[in-house]
Amino acid sequence: MKKLSLILLFITIFSSTLLAKTSSDRNASTSDGKKVFETYCWGCHHQTAVAFGPPFSEIASKRSADEIRAMITDPQSVSKVLGYKRNAMPTLKLTPKELDAITNYILSFNPNSAFKPKGE
Ligand code: HEC
Repeated sequence: MKKLSLILLFITIFSSTLLAKTSSDRNASTSDGKKVFETYCWGCHHQTAVAFGPPFSEIASKRSADEIRAMITDPQSVSKVLGYKRNAMPTLKLTPKELDAITNYILSFNPNSAFKPKGE
């Protein structure tokens, strides 16, 4: 009986460390994403206001992570797939890590998920 509760205690501690780790990883990548945004995208894109390009909140509400990644990697062909007649966004050379970080950062502006529960 005592042994069992000890095992349960270990499982609880172990899984909460795991959870803490994943959430701190996510925070790290959001702040990395902000850095990428400020270095490469700001000026043409703003978080929630329309600039030269659409705001991240609008992109996040209608695109998947794959579409966002594709657009950043190859705007010339992917802008047509997304329905743009002309392409004004330049190809930016990002590392795979920067690409992931900026994609997560854009998706964090989805007004339908993080901030408002669906159906409201
Ligand atoms: C020189 C201006 C410019 C820069 C810099 C720029 N963009 Fe864009 N972006 C645009 C424009 C304009 C569009 C609209 C489509 C087009 O013209 O190709 C666009 C479209 C997009 C789209 C697709 C929008 C949709 O309809 O879903 C994504 C995603 C995107 N940009 C992400 C980024 C990211 C991330 C960065 C920085 C790493 C960045 N852009 C830097 C101008 C820019």
